[in-house]
Amino acid sequence: MHELDRLREVMRRDKVFEFVQEKRLPFSAGRHTVVPGELDISHGTILYVENISVSFDGFKALNDLTLYINDGELRCIIGPNGAGKTTMMDVITGKTRPDSGVAYFGQTMDLTRMSEYEIAHAGIGRKFQKPTIFPFHTIFENLELAMAADKRVWPTLLASLNGEQRDRIADVMEIIGLKDMRDQEATSLSHGQKQWLEIGMLLMQNPRLLLGG
Ligand SMILES: Nc1ncnc2c1ncn2[C@@H]1O[C@H](COP(=O)(O)OP(=O)(O)O)[C@@H](O)[C@H]1O
Ligand SMILES: [Mg+2]
Repeated sequence: MHELDRLREVMRRDKVFEFVQEKRLPFSAGRHTVVPGELDISHGTILYVENISVSFDGFKALNDLTLYINDGELRCIIGPNGAGKTTMMDVITGKTRPDSGVAYFGQTMDLTRMSEYEIAHAGIGRKFQKPTIFPFHTIFENLELAMAADKRVWPTLLASLNGEQRDRIADVMEIIGLKDMRDQEATSLSHGQKQWLEIGMLLMQNPRLLLGG
């Protein structure tokens, strides 16, 4: 190939050549690389839901739903009973597979092909309407148990909490406003405080996206 043609080929912006990609992986400071299994929010969008439809026995619970959520955004979706809110969250968390449409976590993770476990592990947490706390354990213990749901921390928990884990629990107690109640049983909390405790339990897993409703 002529030198100039080579240069033109390399200078084209709409194509990334393999040899460039290989070099980019280890030396990618500041540049956009795609790492399999890692959340890619380089465009600022954390959730892509496009043209999702779900039918139950011919009844369309979701009809061509499209929405995008930005990283760090708080989005409230309201609608009457039966509008499809729960179905939408079921699609995002892998509980229900859509008949059509796509759902991506970041730019690379196809939620419609991942298991519920894989989705939770990738960083999508879900808060259910009914609190699922341990009523006869203290606030602190509830948060400790929530951390234990992550199998990776089991070895350390069997010994005792390390400083970093204690700090994390203290931070979360602060965020949910239950710091002064750390040694009270969860059953003694008001309904609203129980909801906060459950949010705290989800936060212990460090989710990137938290769904609730
Ligand atoms: N597993 C299911 N089987 C049949 N119909 C369902 C199922 N889940 C939800 N639906 C129907 O889909 C519609 C949307 O329900 P849902 O997503 O629970 O709405 P919302 O959470 O907004 O109240 C409702 O009409 C509901 O009856
Ligand atoms: Mg619902």
